[in-house]
Amino acid sequence: TPPERIRNFCIIAHIDHGKSTLADRMLQLTGAVSDRDMRAQYLDRMDIERERGITVKSQAVRLPWQHEGDTFALNMIDTPGHVDFTYEVSRSLAACEGAVLLVDAAQGIEAQTLANLYLALENDLTIIPVLNKIDLPAADPDRFAKELADLIGGDPADVLRVSGKTGQGVEELLDRLVAEIPAPQGDPDAPARAMIFDSVYDAYRGVVTYVRMVDGRLSPRERIQMMSTRATHELLEIGVSSPEPTPSNGLSVGEVGYLITGVKDVRQSKVGDTVTNQRTPASQALPGYTDPKPMVFSGLYPIDASDYTDLREALDKLKLSDASLAYEPETSVALGFGFRCGFLGLLHLEIITERLSREFGLDLITTAPSVVYEVTTETGETLIVTNPSEYPEGKIGSVAEPMVKASILAPKEYVGTVMELCQTRRGTLLGMDYLSEERVELKYTMPLGEIVFDFFDQLKSRTQGYASFDYEPAGQQEADLVKVDILLQGDRVDAFSAIVHREKAYAYGTTMTERLRKLIPRQQFEVPIQAAIGARIIARENIRAMRKDVLAKCYGGDISRKRKLLEKQKEGKKRMKMVGRVEVPQEAFIAALSGD
Ligand code: GTP
Repeated sequence: TPPERIRNFCIIAHIDHGKSTLADRMLQLTGAVSDRDMRAQYLDRMDIERERGITVKSQAVRLPWQHEGDTFALNMIDTPGHVDFTYEVSRSLAACEGAVLLVDAAQGIEAQTLANLYLALENDLTIIPVLNKIDLPAADPDRFAKELADLIGGDPADVLRVSGKTGQGVEELLDRLVAEIPAPQGDPDAPARAMIFDSVYDAYRGVVTYVRMVDGRLSPRERIQMMSTRATHELLEIGVSSPEPTPSNGLSVGEVGYLITGVKDVRQSKVGDTVTNQRTPASQALPGYTDPKPMVFSGLYPIDASDYTDLREALDKLKLSDASLAYEPETSVALGFGFRCGFLGLLHLEIITERLSREFGLDLITTAPSVVYEVTTETGETLIVTNPSEYPEGKIGSVAEPMVKASILAPKEYVGTVMELCQTRRGTLLGMDYLSEERVELKYTMPLGEIVFDFFDQLKSRTQGYASFDYEPAGQQEADLVKVDILLQGDRVDAFSAIVHREKAYAYGTTMTERLRKLIPRQQFEVPIQAAIGARIIARENIRAMRKDVLAKCYGGDISRKRKLLEKQKEGKKRMKMVGRVEVPQEAFIAALSGD
């Protein structure tokens, strides 16, 4: 297809605002999927199948559309919808010239949508504002059309009203995509340059790489080169998803499609990288490539020590499809052998632990999430600390912590509550905008370390679920941080060390010592539990010594009962961890970490 008859777009929408349903209607109306083959959530369904390794999810789908006598190719590019994947979202947007801003006509715009809208505007995309679900009795399109028009500029009358459910307005939307989104531009005679906007692992076909051709042309059987690593591969297959993968004889300027080279690991085909031709390579890569950088770290430990090898194999497998997952072996006195893992954010952490348990059947304990601290010692040496137990001993020059720019959207009656919460999390208010008469956007800079600690749950519960939240990285900043250690009879329990603001050290110390006192059973001797900053004790609890031993109540008579008790004790021993002379059941550590 010549560039003038191509339109590349994505749909920006909040969860549940109806992206999948609208995509279904577009597939149907354009005839990309016949009515006979149509099933609800067509593209999502492919996703589930992909998880099972059956077929490939369509990260981009080509829709043929007749407009004023010409056939156009509308390429709909999928964008990941989560806060943690801003970089992937930005690459998907960079592959488009336009974006549909899809908003539920009964709900209005949410923080996530707003964040992605800002990204789209930064990428100079043409925005087509659309209100969805206008068939709902609760829909209030007049109100939200005004909100959208105020937000992006323009006339409320230009905000399109559709229903993905009934199909109302969807043809008009397709026509507007053609009329308003600019055609892609690029040099057909220049050396090939294609931008990778997604890279998906498939059990049968290896890595499937989704690209947007910017200049030149790529054809099957050619040798291609990844510009960030100079690695070369043979192009085994090239094609378009329409929506089933369909091999073609090449991709040219403005086209969107997939490549298969037989590589088995998504790290060999990185999002944001530029693909060129090995024989006549481009001299300059496309702008915007960066390596994914983990922001949040956590220790993952199998509850059953014999699952360690399975955990390693599971992580190796997940890494094939997730280039941003990082991990290395780690040992802990309290928890045994495990891995320190790096994630893009909290949601990414949740997805990975969920997959480890659901797909690999692993029972894991996750240590409290930590962020990346830059610690400068007195001698001027800078250390990167992602695990509090690796915090340097002795005098510290300064510590810097990662900051984020947070955007919170809430109904105006919750503004006070939200501000209070952000204040306790060391937030600095940057600004406040009324999106409409009822809804306010609050902008804060906040330490990421304060967000990884149940901020989202707090925000939701304090606003009855009405607030939405998003953040983006905003560099490192110095702060008065200290490491708090938890000691059992003078021995440090590594899994409980935390790096916190000096003003919060006491609260952390008392909470953890109290919690452990309740959870650790009595020993033959008294056990002090202390919280300390360096050598200074800031909190203390005592576990009193045990008075009787287990057999005392057996009166020496009942042998079988005695044996049973001994066996039970032995069973318990297996899961005991020794901290110095203190025996602690592993369950106590797990419970203390999860805050139960
Ligand atoms: P995620 O995949 O979770 O991001 O959601 P989504 O944005 O793709 O939304 P989805 O299409 O799954 O729709 C969410 C819910 O809204 C479903 O229960 C749909 O049936 C419903 N829905 C979607 N579009 C419409 C519509 O136009 N009208 C009505 N009444 N309901 C709709």
